Amino acid sequence: MQKPDFKEAKTTDKRPYVTKKFQLEKKYKNSFQGKTYFMKTYGCQMNEHDSEMIEAILQEMGFQKEENYEQADLILLNTCSIRENAHHKAFGMLGRCKHLKEKRPDLMIGLCGCMSQEEIVVEEVLKHYPFLNFVVGTHNFYKIPELLTTSLKEGLQVEVYSREQDLIEQIPMDRKATYKAYVNIIYGCDKFCTYCIVPYARGRQRSRKKEDILEEIKELITEGYQEVTLLGQNVNAYGKDLYESYGFGELLEDVAKTKIPRIRFVTSHPWDFTDHMIDLIAKYPNIMPSIHLPVQSGSSSILKKMGRRYTRENYLELVKKLKAKIPNLALSTDIIVGFPGESEEDFEETLSLVKLCKYDNAFTFIYSPRVGTPALKLKDQIEESVKEERLQRLNKIVNHYFLENNKKLVGTKQQVLIEGRSPKQKDAYFGYTETNKLVNIQGKDLPIGKIISIEIMEAKTWSLDGRAN
Ligand code: SAH
Ligand code: SF4
Ligand code: F3S
Repeated sequence: MQKPDFKEAKTTDKRPYVTKKFQLEKKYKNSFQGKTYFMKTYGCQMNEHDSEMIEAILQEMGFQKEENYEQADLILLNTCSIRENAHHKAFGMLGRCKHLKEKRPDLMIGLCGCMSQEEIVVEEVLKHYPFLNFVVGTHNFYKIPELLTTSLKEGLQVEVYSREQDLIEQIPMDRKATYKAYVNIIYGCDKFCTYCIVPYARGRQRSRKKEDILEEIKELITEGYQEVTLLGQNVNAYGKDLYESYGFGELLEDVAKTKIPRIRFVTSHPWDFTDHMIDLIAKYPNIMPSIHLPVQSGSSSILKKMGRRYTRENYLELVKKLKAKIPNLALSTDIIVGFPGESEEDFEETLSLVKLCKYDNAFTFIYSPRVGTPALKLKDQIEESVKEERLQRLNKIVNHYFLENNKKLVGTKQQVLIEGRSPKQKDAYFGYTETNKLVNIQGKDLPIGKIISIEIMEAKTWSLDGRAN
């Protein structure tokens, strides 16, 4: 049994890692033929993309997908630890699994994702959910075939490495869409913001080799994909651990040259955003003018306590540069309210920064204390009612700008990647603009998976209404 340990996760030594190729051992191929799985993914794009790989592995083992968890032979939860409510959701689901398991003793259940990396979660599972088949961490999810198979004979298998292991390439993927795809470029995070659990759950920063990334993108192009999203907790740090003079800018340019119609990337830490990157986004029409630039707070003193490594002024300067060089830029952000010690004045600085940046989209969160992170021990934790009230005030302002920005597009034509039919309306479709805005479109027989010109008719806070010509 290999359990996680945050102390070990925290050590910052850089270990050389090797790239290895995944191959499902012959004995596991189709070994679960006729069985079904249900997969529930909590968390960010990183987790969604991990699920695409885990599902492909399960399918190679012979499993078929089942949408109703009550019917499935295997239930797998790919969990997230970013905030406490993500924890509650996963444990709520485990509770439901417990009832099912009482009725169907042969039900198989597995836990993977970021929660598996937490000591407190593994202890809770050992105490209250020992009927699980396996708990596997983010660094070794590709070992599910072995762990599941062993568990059938020996019971619960816990294998969670505290530190990242080798970088595994060529894991199969069951991508959710046939026109847009996630492509990992860098794993882990070295920033250790004081509130955040991600560096513990995902390990040190490790870049994939540029050849592997470009090869994957070229394959996607041959398969007809229109859009790639380059993924990482901090994509701008790409290459720092691997190359002397090949960073995110160079990679972005090489990806742009593949001529894939749309390139997106998440997430950018303001600290590593260089002028070279801004120039490239402005230069290449296939790099989308849509940037997610989490600010977290508008107060320099709170940013310092958060360990974000930039001030309010640095951030505003960067936004100014971005807006000047990329005229049609859509800017989005993440904001945390109620970080320990946040005074009313600090919070008002966040509101004033929002008014200056006029974000197109913003994800706003109440600070959630995470076990193992330094911010947990800070004095002056803010009362829940104050956090709630601040969140509401903040949301009112961000929503105002979403609508205001959307209104500017009414009457214009936008290039939209058509993603599917509207679930609610007949003869209606939905898709996303270059600036990543959702458009609901009236039209007949629109080409799903293609980019077409759409006239914007109406603006709402979170979407646009458009018409195909
Ligand atoms: N790597 C990304 C963020 C990943 S987590 C970045 O640094 O930009 C996504 C968002 O969750 C963060 O931007 C932050 O706003 C929020 N978040 C992280 N930890 C949190 C916590 N303890 N409480 C509340 N929100 C948190
Ligand atoms: Fe978390 Fe900060 Fe890393 Fe983002 S940059 S994942 S907020 S530690
Ligand atoms: Fe959650 Fe892990 Fe992503 S904690 S936000 S799933 S990296």
